[in-house]
Amino acid sequence: MASANKGPSLFKSPVMQWVDERFPLSSLMRDHLTEYYAPKNFNFWYYFGSLALLVLVIQIVTGIFLTMNYKPDANYAFGSVEFIMRDVDYGWVIRYMHSTGASMFFVVVYLHMCRGLMYGSYRKPRELVWILGCLIYLALMAEAFFGYLLPWGQMSFWGAQVIVNLFSAVPFIGPELAVWIRGDYSIGDATLNRFFAFHVIALPLVLLGLVAAHIIALHEVGSNNPDGIEIKKGPKGNRWSKDAPADGIPFHPYFTVKDIVGVVVFLMIFSAIVFFAPEMGGYFLEHNNFIPADPLKTPDHIAPVWYFTPFYSILRAVPPLFGSQFPGVIAMGLAVMVFFALPWLDRGKVKSIRYRGTLWKSWFAAFIIAFFVLGYLGVEPTTVWGQFGDWASFLDTRDRATWAARFFTVVYFAFFFLMPWYTSRDKTKPEPARVRYHEHEAPAAAE
Ligand code: HEM
Repeated sequence: MASANKGPSLFKSPVMQWVDERFPLSSLMRDHLTEYYAPKNFNFWYYFGSLALLVLVIQIVTGIFLTMNYKPDANYAFGSVEFIMRDVDYGWVIRYMHSTGASMFFVVVYLHMCRGLMYGSYRKPRELVWILGCLIYLALMAEAFFGYLLPWGQMSFWGAQVIVNLFSAVPFIGPELAVWIRGDYSIGDATLNRFFAFHVIALPLVLLGLVAAHIIALHEVGSNNPDGIEIKKGPKGNRWSKDAPADGIPFHPYFTVKDIVGVVVFLMIFSAIVFFAPEMGGYFLEHNNFIPADPLKTPDHIAPVWYFTPFYSILRAVPPLFGSQFPGVIAMGLAVMVFFALPWLDRGKVKSIRYRGTLWKSWFAAFIIAFFVLGYLGVEPTTVWGQFGDWASFLDTRDRATWAARFFTVVYFAFFFLMPWYTSRDKTKPEPARVRYHEHEAPAAAE
């Protein structure tokens, strides 16, 4: 029988060869593992793609087990989570793995995106890899938002109330839109049921599909690297193949083994959190969420989980217009959507931070600081730094933190919108002809 594979089978076992004749298993393994040549100079920042995959698997597996005992019913949801924590065998560890996994997903994805920014991984020819990444990020935010309602605690309820109410700020159709999303006039049983459906099946499917497309697109164009230069344009031929890029090495076994190091370190940190600090001081599991949802009692301070707070700060920073919060909602949406435009905003001659000039580096540093400060301000009440004196009473708010959030919101957007200007004027350094790698550098130093 003609093989479904290009080239000979990678397997010795007759069973696997039988499969290979009917399914392109060896071809897939060659294309994505043993003959996928990745740049040899990958560094620490390249761990986060495989770690994101690991967390995705952890979330799906623990999620399946949680679903076995969770009840998506406004009368029983909170109690069923308590039941999982107290009575289900190892329920507590499964739940803490899932709640820790949610926050760690964002830690890993933010670091993964930061790497993309530092090394210009979003630029030609990886625009589609980036766009698919941005879609994953949107899906991940929706997944986290839907999941957060499920424990039916005070924060679940009021957090969802605040966010869904934002839709009522949409001109003309707003109030009806909010009712349509909730399925009720306030967050209720209907909302919980539909959020459950989205959280356990719709969005995980979307995420899996997007992640597969993300990796297929990446393998089509090849990985970027910390030098931001294309290994495919460099010399050809390495010890495995005469056609492969000279600076590429097979993903398997070289990077599969390297990624295990990342996995081990990650699991050490992950376990330390799960076993010793699952609430993470109220940042991973908020204190108010250990109180059952009470539609009659609004908590004093409603704040989203830390990974949403930079955007929440932007929402709060923009003043209402004619009593409508719509401008803030637009700014918050834009703060996320602007990532899609990045490949076309950057006009720099080089991709990597290693060869960028002071202009780009300063704007990048300002953006990172703005992201952290906005994130910090988003978890605090707007009065965290006290208020201005009466002299400022003509302003619509007297809270210092609100003004800080306004300033950093401007910095956040300036990083993106001024990018075409400062990247084209940036004094860049010359890129090397080949990737920097210590084995290359040693003889060069001896010359
Ligand atoms: C569930 C979430 C995600 C998973 C599982 C995932 C997975 C991966 C993997 C396995 C790689 C190759 C290894 C690596 O370069 O680290 C990769 C590369 C990449 N990802 Fe993601 N990713 C995710 C989210 C994102 C997001 C949110 C973005 C950006 C908005 C993004 C942008 C990129 C880019 C630009 C590359 C190519 C990097 C390079 O070659 O330098 N990814 N991703």
